[in-house]
Amino acid sequence: MRKLYIFDTTLRDGEQSLGITLNVQEKIEIARQLVKLGVDVIEAGFPASSPGDLASVRTLARELQGVIVCGLSRAVEGDIDSCAEALREAEYPRIHTGIAVSPVHMAQKLKLSPDQVVETAVAAVKHAKKYVGDVEFYAEDAFRSDLPFLARVLEQVIEAGATVVNIPDTVGYATPWEYGEMVTYVREHVPNIDRAVLSIHCHNDLGMATANSLAGIMAGAGQVEGTINGIGERAGNTSLEEVIMAIYTQRSRYGIETGVHTREISATSRLVSRITGVPVPAHKAIVGSNAFMHASGIHQDGVLKERTTYEIINPEVVGVPKNRIVLSARSGRHAFKYRLAELGYQVEAERLETLYQSFLQLADQKGEIFDQDLHALVGGNIVED
Ligand code: KIV
Ligand code: ZN
Repeated sequence: MRKLYIFDTTLRDGEQSLGITLNVQEKIEIARQLVKLGVDVIEAGFPASSPGDLASVRTLARELQGVIVCGLSRAVEGDIDSCAEALREAEYPRIHTGIAVSPVHMAQKLKLSPDQVVETAVAAVKHAKKYVGDVEFYAEDAFRSDLPFLARVLEQVIEAGATVVNIPDTVGYATPWEYGEMVTYVREHVPNIDRAVLSIHCHNDLGMATANSLAGIMAGAGQVEGTINGIGERAGNTSLEEVIMAIYTQRSRYGIETGVHTREISATSRLVSRITGVPVPAHKAIVGSNAFMHASGIHQDGVLKERTTYEIINPEVVGVPKNRIVLSARSGRHAFKYRLAELGYQVEAERLETLYQSFLQLADQKGEIFDQDLHALVGGNIVED
């Protein structure tokens, strides 16, 4: 099995979501849960961005054990110094520094030539190496870069000491096959790539962050970056829980494993949602409230006969105690009878049919039918167990 490193940036890229600001206590609560979840790296913040963020990263660096604590910095000496200062007490510190490499970012945002970008990137990595052994380099907007240029930058930063190189799809522009091709290109054209871990970092502007990340992993990336619940700027980042469970459900086919304790996924998602105030959509994969609910009669009948007919994941594996059969006008007799039996009612066949017709009439008016509705429905007309 190949080990895939999980880099969580909920507290940095996730916190860049519109409307989220986390104080240090909130960051610690989330970070402790991330440690329980078993991620390998926690990106705690961007220390040079504000004194508050520097203080938060410093506290997390001091408090967290058994995990790499990472801080972001631009390829600017002052940023790197702040980052190093914030990480001083970390058991396993990592500085994540980098610069944009796409033509539009270099010309319009940085106003630097490609040669100047290479020079700045190399200087940043060398400067970070004065403080820590573990330096990750990000090539911002790598997906829209000129690939030979990207390969040149990566080769030089690895030569300068980068231990991890990150090739983000910063603006969520890639499709899975193109992102996978970029990873393959880098693996084939950066001669010293085996001296570093190749990391992927995707955004969800086209709704493909998870698919792109999986394509990158299949093409040989060794680390995946993302956030819990996919929170992040604009349409968000890769949802780590989706990638983790895709790897988990396909582990024998992929031959890849993570160190994640999947049973902590649901608790982690709920905590991040509560603290950030960002609700999880009901239909969200893995962690949405509907993810393990069955609504239609055909599906309910199947699941009651054999769970795997309509469930690819046992809910307990992600920390959800059990699936739920929701009774509504779409439910069939099997689910209706099953729930009555669970409530302690044994109903003869003829009576069951009459009750089922009344149930359908009620469900047409009410939508979901709850246990108290069933108790009222059966009233005294049944034989109790
Ligand atoms: O999306 C991106 O390019 C980033 C980098 C700063 C790592 O978040
Ligand atoms: Zn990002």
